[in-house]
Amino acid sequence: MSRIVLEGVTKRYGSTVALDDASLTIESGSFTSIFGPPSSGKSVLLRLLLGLETVDAGRIFIDGMDVTNALPKERNLSMVFQNLALFPHLTARENIAFPLVRRGIDSGTIDDRLDQVAGILSISHILHKKPAALSGGERQRVAIGRALVRDASAYLMDEPIAALDARLRDVMRVELKRLQSEFGHTFIYVTHDNEEAMSVADRMAILREGRIEQIDVPDAIYAKPATAYVASLVGSPRINLLNAEYTAGGVVSPLGKLAMVTGWREKLKSAKALRLGIRPEAIQVTPNDTGSDIVASVSDVERLGAFSIITSKTKDTEITAIAAGDARISVGDSVGLSINPSDCHLFDGSSGRRVV
Ligand SMILES: Nc1ncnc2c1ncn2[C@@H]1O[C@H](COP(=O)(O)OP(=O)(O)O)[C@@H](O)[C@H]1O
Ligand SMILES: [Mg+2]
Repeated sequence: MSRIVLEGVTKRYGSTVALDDASLTIESGSFTSIFGPPSSGKSVLLRLLLGLETVDAGRIFIDGMDVTNALPKERNLSMVFQNLALFPHLTARENIAFPLVRRGIDSGTIDDRLDQVAGILSISHILHKKPAALSGGERQRVAIGRALVRDASAYLMDEPIAALDARLRDVMRVELKRLQSEFGHTFIYVTHDNEEAMSVADRMAILREGRIEQIDVPDAIYAKPATAYVASLVGSPRINLLNAEYTAGGVVSPLGKLAMVTGWREKLKSAKALRLGIRPEAIQVTPNDTGSDIVASVSDVERLGAFSIITSKTKDTEITAIAAGDARISVGDSVGLSINPSDCHLFDGSSGRRVV
């Protein structure tokens, strides 16, 4: 397995900067997810790593070797493409074996590798079928099998399970994670699904319009998002972001004045306009409470069993919060909201960067 380094990589298409001075280190044997909205440069990053396209600036290293201008086959990376393409005239087994056959590997070794991969992906029973006779989920597993069957320095996956239904996605992401850690493979996994990006990866890189906004372990990205943008992408339901101001020694937002937390004063001294971030799960909702500091009127209740998502309005500001699944809260109720200031995130109002 290999360590991969991108150093200041830039890729342009005409006036579009698809990747902008991106630097990223992927440790050998790690599971790294690349997360960002559509058109943020995720697929371009993988294509540059693979060597299908050339960089406009920057360097790419695999195990310390400069491969910036190396041919794809010299990089020995294996890829599952976003739009998977199986050979329709070959069986699932022949599709998976294809990369090995092409490399002239003996049939005994091919059989061993194939059985192992098919076992992990639970597709042993469908190996005799051709793609047209497989479901979408089965086809996707075959495509993943074809990428994993050969020895590669790293395995690159471009939204490999995005096309599957929700239940199968849950199963597949657990399987992929297990497979990666069992074999100690280096995985680079692209997705636009924030829960998927967080749940599979050891490390997560977040792209925004071709720039890397933050790289860290998923827990740290959730707990300490580097920018308001990252805070808004990671976590579900989405974080509440409000305009706020540091004035007269306090942080004032439409929710009122927040009690100061130790250490804030120092960090806020040059701040003025702020964005206040409060995660829905950090807000306590008290039913039928009209005596709280923050009283809000409930406009929507989404019951999800284990918990409910409560949308409420106070002074024209909409706030999303989480309540217990069995909380007796209905649309039109007045509820009390309480917020612990130490659970709040503060970002600079203009740059969006984290202040505290
Ligand atoms: N071959 C190309 N020609 C022109 N523009 C491209 C090409 N490939 C990608 N782009 C542009 O680069 C940006 C990033 O694309 P991409 O990496 O495919 O996004 P995503 O994060 O959805 O995978 C987009 O604005 C896209 O339109
Ligand atoms: Mg893409």
